[in-house]
Amino acid sequence: MLWFHPVLQALTTLLALYVAFTGLNRFLTQHLQISRPFQWRIHVQLGKLAILLWFAGFVGGLMVARMTWSVNFITGRHYQTALIMLPLLIFGYLSGIIMDAHKKPRGLLSLLHAANNITLLGLALYQFWTGWAVLREYLL
Ligand code: HEM
Ligand code: HEM
Repeated sequence: MLWFHPVLQALTTLLALYVAFTGLNRFLTQHLQISRPFQWRIHVQLGKLAILLWFAGFVGGLMVARMTWSVNFITGRHYQTALIMLPLLIFGYLSGIIMDAHKKPRGLLSLLHAANNITLLGLALYQFWTGWAVLREYLL
């Protein structure tokens, strides 16, 4: 049970890396006039999946910690980073839904979506580091 959360979150972060790669093509076309094909439906579907799984992993991590140690928020930088990710998960998802529902040339919102979700990805990669510390301290 203790391994479920780290494995799920690590796989989800790899999925998000792929989503970011497809988003990069859109960024190049929209802002730098370097024309690249953008797999709109794939980006939206896998993007939704990645954000929902990160969120499920967030809740799952809390639950497993509670079941195992009977307390939460004992993992220092790991839970602190997770709390920072929470509003970004919501904004990343909602901004994507809005741009998908109303397709039109975008400036600010697509840039905010990109900056928000690249930050999320950076934080999730950082969680490998902080999560590894939790694994070493409590599980290994
Ligand atoms: C890990 C999650 C995600 C990452 C890293 C990501 C990244 C990006 C990036 C870099 C762009 C290009 C923005 C620009 O041109 O300035 C983009 C565009 C877009 N994203 Fe995402 N995204 C993610 C999740 C989502 C989700 C969940 C949705 C929908 C629910 C979504 C829908 C869109 C749409 C529709 C565009 C095109 C916007 C437009 O050009 O009008 N994305 N994304
Ligand atoms: C990617 C590598 C990650 C690793 C190796 C990792 C590892 C761990 C471990 C070992 C635990 C202890 C409970 C358990 O084993 O289930 C934990 C708890 C937790 N993790 Fe992660 N995690 C990762 C990513 C994430 C991400 C991306 C988030 C946020 C979206 C997150 C949020 C949490 C939360 C909220 C807890 C409960 C902490 C507490 O109550 O103190 N983790 N993680």
